[in-house]
Amino acid sequence: MSLGYVAPSGGRAGDGDPGAPGAPGAPGAPGGLGVRCEGVVHLYRTFEGHDVVALQGVDLEIDAGERVAFLGPSGSGKSTLLALLGGIQRPSAGRIFLGDEEVSRMGERYLARLRARRVSTMLQGASRNLLTYATARQNLGFARLALSARERREVLPEEELLRMVGLAQQLDQVVATMSGGQRQRLALACAASTGPQLLLADEPTSQLSHEDRDHVLTLLHRLGDDLGTTVVVVTHQPEVAATFPRTVTMKGGRVGAEGRDGSEYAVVGAEGVLHLPSHLAAEWPAGTLVRIEPEERRLVVSRPEDHS
Ligand SMILES: Nc1ncnc2c1ncn2[C@@H]1O[C@H](COP(=O)(O)OP(=O)(O)OP(=O)(O)O)[C@@H](O)[C@H]1O
Ligand SMILES: [Mg+2]
Repeated sequence: MSLGYVAPSGGRAGDGDPGAPGAPGAPGAPGGLGVRCEGVVHLYRTFEGHDVVALQGVDLEIDAGERVAFLGPSGSGKSTLLALLGGIQRPSAGRIFLGDEEVSRMGERYLARLRARRVSTMLQGASRNLLTYATARQNLGFARLALSARERREVLPEEELLRMVGLAQQLDQVVATMSGGQRQRLALACAASTGPQLLLADEPTSQLSHEDRDHVLTLLHRLGDDLGTTVVVVTHQPEVAATFPRTVTMKGGRVGAEGRDGSEYAVVGAEGVLHLPSHLAAEWPAGTLVRIEPEERRLVVSRPEDHS
């Protein structure tokens, strides 16, 4: 059985109904939504009035239908970037495009419709995505509120979605009585339930057993296979990242490295910033003076004798 989808209806940024073609998945599916970040900076203001720089110049392009895992140490900006891509927060500076449309140019109403139908975000901490006093079935119904009656008939029935994440027995269970892992799987089922063109999931498997983790990964990858959905997950688990053809590693609020088809690459950032691979960083601490010399297709980085 395929996952079902919401057929896009034509629309224009700023008002009305969001809808745009993406890359094809299965024949007839709307396909995925590509994403592009240009010089994205994000600051948080703390209660004490200090600014925290969470992102400091992110340039990133994710093609329609791509599947990407975001990695990186705690505090490196993964959740911030995901929330910006999902239109939940707006960047302090820089530009974010969903398909051909720039998020900062979208009106609130248009953005809300986009988030309700085409772009699903599962935030870090499953309960933030759920109505804890409601049942699993009611949460799925709530996630699909923006769909038309016809669209609702096209997406997967609630029972089937819950079966896919191993929650068939929890259909009428209230979220408040569920375990952390059950909430995590329900939150993902809700995010997937509209058949989105872009699915963003922040640590969707961090609390799961191996078996439940595999259920969740199967659902994520089926969205990509059946609908052409663009899928982006944040994870700290190498075995989860290994199921994604592309990884993006955040470091200090920037894209530090990328993995493609099993090879790791450092990424030259804005103003020529280049992160050292983490296994080298301890031997080359901040402040180390280095000489950089181009040599055909290489850059030779060396530490002069008297500064080592
Ligand atoms: N609401 C907030 N107010 C102030 N600072 C924040 C807020 N949210 C995040 N930050 C700060 O922004 C930076 C990036 O945080 P973010 O949550 O994006 O990191 P992360 O990579 O997702 O980390 P983790 O792996 O722990 O989830 C951190 O320094 C964090 O302390
Ligand atoms: Mg996070």
